[in-house]
Amino acid sequence: MNALKSLASVSDIATRYHAISGLVVADLEEAKILVGEALAQDPLDADSVALVSEFTRIRRGDAVLAGLLEDVSIHPEVKRNVSSYHRQTGQLPERLVKLFSDSHQDSLSVALLSEDKTALAHDVDELGDAARGEEIFRRESLACTSCHGIGSVGPTIGPNLVAVGTAASTSYMIESILEPNASIAEHYENMLFTMTDDSMHMGVIAYQDDSEVIIQDSALGKEVKLPVGKIRSKQSVPSLMPAGLADQLKSRDEFLDLAKFLSVLGDPGPFQNDERPFIRKWRVAAAEGAEPPREDSLWKPAYSKVNGELPFGDLDLGKRVFAKGFVEVQTPGPVVLDINHRDGLELWIDGEAVSDPSKPIDLSKGRKEVTFALDMAEREELGLKVLLSPDRDSSVKFKVEGGI
Ligand code: HEC
Repeated sequence: MNALKSLASVSDIATRYHAISGLVVADLEEAKILVGEALAQDPLDADSVALVSEFTRIRRGDAVLAGLLEDVSIHPEVKRNVSSYHRQTGQLPERLVKLFSDSHQDSLSVALLSEDKTALAHDVDELGDAARGEEIFRRESLACTSCHGIGSVGPTIGPNLVAVGTAASTSYMIESILEPNASIAEHYENMLFTMTDDSMHMGVIAYQDDSEVIIQDSALGKEVKLPVGKIRSKQSVPSLMPAGLADQLKSRDEFLDLAKFLSVLGDPGPFQNDERPFIRKWRVAAAEGAEPPREDSLWKPAYSKVNGELPFGDLDLGKRVFAKGFVEVQTPGPVVLDINHRDGLELWIDGEAVSDPSKPIDLSKGRKEVTFALDMAEREELGLKVLLSPDRDSSVKFKVEGGI
């Protein structure tokens, strides 16, 4: 008697998910029997993404899962989780994207694609508002910032967009959002490798010779070596950038704003690349205490806008909010912090309170943690913008830390 069949009666959905995930590799036939029913139920706290991903890691697993789910009404919460994962990572195979789609509204992408291209580009140029577009670009629901960095900060899954507007036309920006596969940015061609053991790897080729291929594995987020002798087949697959992201926008106007922002990125003016040493990579935390919290888990990442400001929206976490950045000091000496607004603000360097942030601060060699506490009521709707410069005649040398 097969003990696994009785899984259907296990009430804890997380346990069932977990068991089915294990079966995909160990005993696919058993997994097939159980998966449809499991995905029709409210996942509660269980990780539906992990379960679905399990099928995408085996050869033709996407087709198998699609077949099994044909007549299943997938629980809306499962759809929401899986779609949101795809928007952030682009990892869901095309065949499954529609199946798990959580979009009810008429698709904005489809409407925009049916418009006259020249007229749409004209509207972006004439009516789009780049400042609003930047806010939209930074929205979590749109996921742009989970793959693209701008300048010294942000992820590197997609190309850095710091100067994308200088090199390409407005029509190219529109196409990049609506039809990511129409033209793939150089060096970002995505390949799918099926190995002789039926496992699969997807990513962009970083290096190859006669004996191995090294890819930036997009699921694992790191480089993986694939011995040439173990590669069964390789095929070009769609851009990692998900199509249909525009459906997360509220209106056509928002699309005009977003495309406008991209089209001016890097142009002379307010969206030009500014390489001056602003703190752009931040960690922020809300906490009641007088001192900055010590536990790492309380701090979440945030990044300044193109103009160097960490906007109020990223700080609006509580009454008292901490924000910290990092500076690598190569040659010690005094540094001046040019802070946009000093009301309701306290400062620590490496955990030591600085009594007067307006005076030059002596920095010793090494990685310095620059932490601000902000009294949000006193600062009203202000963001935080911090530019570092050497004090007059100082020989101090430093670099503000960027990255993810
Ligand atoms: C899952 C990762 C991912 C997400 C999310 C994502 N992108 Fe991309 N994007 C990429 C990759 C990878 C490329 C390069 C391949 C290609 O051109 O399609 C790219 C290319 C682009 C390009 C062309 C860049 C160039 O140098 O030619 C633009 C513009 C762009 N994305 C804008 C956006 C915007 C706006 C959003 C949010 C609505 C977004 N992307 C969301 C991964 C992503």
